[in-house]
Amino acid sequence: MNQPDVLHLCMGSACHQRGVYHLLPKLQALIRQYNLEDRLKLKGSFCLGPCTYGIVMQFGGEIIVNVTADNIEQKLREEILPYLVDEEV
Ligand code: FES
Repeated sequence: MNQPDVLHLCMGSACHQRGVYHLLPKLQALIRQYNLEDRLKLKGSFCLGPCTYGIVMQFGGEIIVNVTADNIEQKLREEILPYLVDEEV
């Protein structure tokens, strides 16, 4: 089985102010809902850089900005799921 891909979620102060701690449980619930526990590892991160566009995540070298509790499922479906490394068959 492949190593899980890592999704970094910025826990820096700007993203904190924008509600990352409100978004976190929703993201964790989505990871369970989509059965991604073995394929996607969620890691908290220090500031990822583009604070003005928070909340910010990083996945596979790509920065994902303007994440909110309302659009996190869409971001997951469009910007993360298609790029997950498939499990070996
Ligand atoms: S605090 Fe999140 S990108 Fe800087």
